[in-house]
Amino acid sequence: MNGRVGSKMANRQGLASMFAVTALLFAAVATTFPAECSAHRAADARGHTKGVHSIGVCNGVIGNNLPSPADVVKLYRAKGIGAMRIYAPETNVLRALSGTGIGLLMDVPNENITAFASTPSAAAAWVKAYVQPYPGVSFRYIAVGNEVMDVDAQKNILPALKNLNTALSAAGLDGRGIKVSTALRFDVVTDTFPPSSGVFADDDFMDPIAEYLETTGAPLLANVYPYFAYVGDTTDIRLDYATLQPGTTVTDDGNGLTYTSLFDAMVDSIYAALEDAGTPGVKVVVSETGWPSSGSSAATVQNARTYNQNLINHVGRGTPKRPGPLETYMFAMFNENLKTGDETERHFGLFNPDKSPAYTLSF
Ligand SMILES: *[C@@H]1O[C@H](CO)[C@@H](O)[C@H](O)[C@H]1NC(C)=O
Repeated sequence: MNGRVGSKMANRQGLASMFAVTALLFAAVATTFPAECSAHRAADARGHTKGVHSIGVCNGVIGNNLPSPADVVKLYRAKGIGAMRIYAPETNVLRALSGTGIGLLMDVPNENITAFASTPSAAAAWVKAYVQPYPGVSFRYIAVGNEVMDVDAQKNILPALKNLNTALSAAGLDGRGIKVSTALRFDVVTDTFPPSSGVFADDDFMDPIAEYLETTGAPLLANVYPYFAYVGDTTDIRLDYATLQPGTTVTDDGNGLTYTSLFDAMVDSIYAALEDAGTPGVKVVVSETGWPSSGSSAATVQNARTYNQNLINHVGRGTPKRPGPLETYMFAMFNENLKTGDETERHFGLFNPDKSPAYTLSF
């Protein structure tokens, strides 16, 4: 079974973000107001207000000791986790989700995009096999690909999106409100400091996709990892800023807004890029974010708990540029022992394979 692949982000996203983040911290040092967000935190410190509706968790399956889909879904329900992302159309998970009301973001694996782009009947067959038979599943989004970085493969995304939408309509599923999009790595955006200067690194790739998403009302899905930015530049990025703790305040001279977390700054740079592309109506859904609890000096239980709990408490309020709930999928539900790459890749889980918490979190 495939899923989120390897440790690529640690290398590429970290490096790509380094320049921007270095600039960000020079600004941060100049204007620091330590108590800035304590009032906000108190507002929903238990995570049981609006924020809970904005939080989903990614259900990666690259392990040989993970619970059954039925048990996984039980754990989501017991914890009050309202949405799930899966990286392939896993029919046993779809059956377990049926009737639960848990919202679902489901990926079309990268290796299937070419066929969907060139052959409308391939997209139609997929819809018939994995969407139509599951009227009890609360599909929210279909992600055509995750972090597709190959330039030739990227060209197939837009036609695949179109063919998939056509297939959903032809199957009579318009009424389900399923939005079709693609999940991008954060470094499709460049010039991310200040956030208001964010632009797409490759307009030819992104502008037509953003324009299409605006016509369909689908959000852009983006994987946003302050962790990788932080480990790429620990001398300039402050841990409190990367883990959504109070202490660092950055004013963006371009839009006049004030930032207290790298997460918000990263998301708002995506919004700036969407505006630059002429598509301010496209929303952002954070399709992955997380912090590993072991495997590097920054990957500690304490940092992972701090980041993830603050995130849960935070996303219901959105970002300075887009206040209001920001739908966010945490990566990931379980520690996955068969993931390759850096040691941290096997320690992103909120839970151990035996369903015990990797550390305490309140959803
Ligand atoms: C998706 O790709 C996999 C791997 O190449 C293949 O086995 C499968 O048949 C493809 N599915 C569809 C619906 O094209």
